[in-house]
Amino acid sequence: MKMKQYEQRIQTLLSNMTLEEKIGQIQQCGPSLVGAFDVSFDELLNMMFDGRISKEEFDRLMGTAEQDFHEEDLRAGKIGSYNGIGDSAIANRLQKIAVEETRLGIPLLFGYDVIHGFRTVTPIPLAESCACEPALWEKTGRVAAEEATAAGVHLTFAPMVDVARDARWGRISEGAGEDVLLNSAYGAAKVKGFQGDDLSKPDAMAACVKHFAAYGAGEAGRDYNRVDMSMQRLWEEYMPPYKACIDSGARAVMPAFNDINGVPCTANPWLLRDILREKWGFDGLVISDSNAIAECVDHGLAEDKRDAAKQAILAGMEMDMSSNSYAEYLKNLVESGEVPECVVDEAAADVLRIKFELGLFDNPYQTSEERERGAMLTEGSRAVAREAAVKSMVLLKNENHILPLKADARIGIFGALAADQGQMTGAWAIGARPEDCVSIVEACGARGISYQYSEDGKDLLKIAASSDVLVAAIGERKEESGEAASRADITLRKEDLALVRDLLATGKPVAVVLFNGRPLAIPELAEHVPAILEAWHPGVEAGPAILDVLFGDVNPSGKLTTTFPASSGQCPMYYAHINTGRPGGKSKFTSKYLDAPVEPVYPFGYGLSYTTFAYDNLAAEQTGEAVHVSVSVTNTGSRDGDEIVQCYVQDVAAKRVRPVRQLKGFEKVSLRAGETKTVDFVIPFAELSYYDWNMEEVPCEGILKVYVGGDSRAELSREIRI
Ligand code: BGC
Repeated sequence: MKMKQYEQRIQTLLSNMTLEEKIGQIQQCGPSLVGAFDVSFDELLNMMFDGRISKEEFDRLMGTAEQDFHEEDLRAGKIGSYNGIGDSAIANRLQKIAVEETRLGIPLLFGYDVIHGFRTVTPIPLAESCACEPALWEKTGRVAAEEATAAGVHLTFAPMVDVARDARWGRISEGAGEDVLLNSAYGAAKVKGFQGDDLSKPDAMAACVKHFAAYGAGEAGRDYNRVDMSMQRLWEEYMPPYKACIDSGARAVMPAFNDINGVPCTANPWLLRDILREKWGFDGLVISDSNAIAECVDHGLAEDKRDAAKQAILAGMEMDMSSNSYAEYLKNLVESGEVPECVVDEAAADVLRIKFELGLFDNPYQTSEERERGAMLTEGSRAVAREAAVKSMVLLKNENHILPLKADARIGIFGALAADQGQMTGAWAIGARPEDCVSIVEACGARGISYQYSEDGKDLLKIAASSDVLVAAIGERKEESGEAASRADITLRKEDLALVRDLLATGKPVAVVLFNGRPLAIPELAEHVPAILEAWHPGVEAGPAILDVLFGDVNPSGKLTTTFPASSGQCPMYYAHINTGRPGGKSKFTSKYLDAPVEPVYPFGYGLSYTTFAYDNLAAEQTGEAVHVSVSVTNTGSRDGDEIVQCYVQDVAAKRVRPVRQLKGFEKVSLRAGETKTVDFVIPFAELSYYDWNMEEVPCEGILKVYVGGDSRAELSREIRI
């Protein structure tokens, strides 16, 4: 359908809608659970999390629960959208009610958190970002969309592109790490993958970029915490990824839970109107975070829920996810003249528009149970998940070439995570099923490897005696990262460290496979364990992918997209810091700690390979309105391998202090053993500018130092004057 045509139909529909029906369109309903418990579902969840009931008791009660879709409200035109339904039969049943039984027959929009895969769970976003491969990010986004849309989903609450520099924040797992450029490239690729080339196709899923803005900068890494920062920093370090997603075509935006400089994003007219609409020209849909409108009362911005509804809608918040604030108060607010009806019209129009764009008016039933059955966990999607997992892993250490293991090596495997399928998905994988995941132990069996397994270290000495190498699978459980999972202490569990010490004491070669949703402080491992593979939470193909790397079928190439601090107290820690007037050093009065190093354990951009790479012939020159950089990279080892070549710049002296380094380009190159390739980067001047004290954008001038290499500590550099 041509754009003009549906703009007209939107206006016609609006003119036929009652105020209640318009408010219905901007109401997103999360089905509630009713069951054999006397408390609300939220309270039941809390009871489990604070230990009043066990996980088993919770599961038992949930087994008796039924979903309530509020169908009477739906029939009355009071619901325009649902969140959290990933089941084609349910979606089509509700859609039929909307289309056939409501007065105007407007189809429903189904939203869902498809964060890193639907059934075919791919690595957590933080992991996948380490692959530094936009084509891969797009491909896994496509697989996610094909599956989720088959299950009835129209819109995903992803990508999350919150720059995250504090390893204590649990949601660092959900984005592309600490860098501005990487988050921008990652988000733009995901949007393309989710949405495909035509949003009206049945396998296209609208992207909702989140959490706008700066949700990753919460104080002390505590989830939902305040964000207070200079405008210069906000614009230079946090805003670009959201903009990149919008430029890539994202049709929805979710404002963040946090406040920025005192005003919650949910009801922030500067953010939602001045920036998003006026400055960036966004013409899609704005959807609140869950219950966020009502939470403006807790923030202390609104006196009560009615006031919250008023401030939010006036600020430009369109769809209310789950708080019922609009459903309860908007009609009265319009009737009292406090909210002009045209504001509600605008919001409803944006909901109708996305429904037209998705083709829902032409074909409200874009899937069927049959399509859903055939779409899940295909051979092809599993292959993509395995490829993504392999490319996401980062080899942190490999002393004495312990890895790759010989094909006939006898391995002793230790740690519960080696056999726990359910843990492989990591946080935010709500469509995942534990039984879909392949563990390390299972994969060893399938591959015919000679192995012995001990979950808790029992028989450790016996197993060690008859093994050539010992592998410890340790780290975080999936509940230890993600939303509401901040940690003040990002070290390993005591029992994990004890296990590793016992393994090292046997004198056998030890390799650690780390599972985690955030950077961990692992100085002891880094010092004493000869081989460490960062596997993150790899998804359904965890086991086979880990063995691909351990046995060298694939040469690892992932690079860290977040700094690994030496201790929790160093957080937030990130490579693109400023120098201060007294950079950390040996002498007393410098910027450092008495009891921790100033350096991380592993820097941003770091990751080893089974081969080695050398950089040479770095050249940098100004060509027109850009800096042109070229470098030659040689595979100096005896195996073929991929290297992620990174280009950093430093604006040596400027009107404001600038980061010591900023990533301005990255490229993955495949090099056969002994091969050399030239890699070029073109950095437009526009990408070097910054904001001065008065928030005027100023060009980078004077000396620019360019560094190229395999991580953020790259030493090869050139200076040019621009
Ligand atoms: C999260 C969002 C998510 C939403 C819907 C919220 O708690 O912050 O990222 O999309 O729930 O499930």
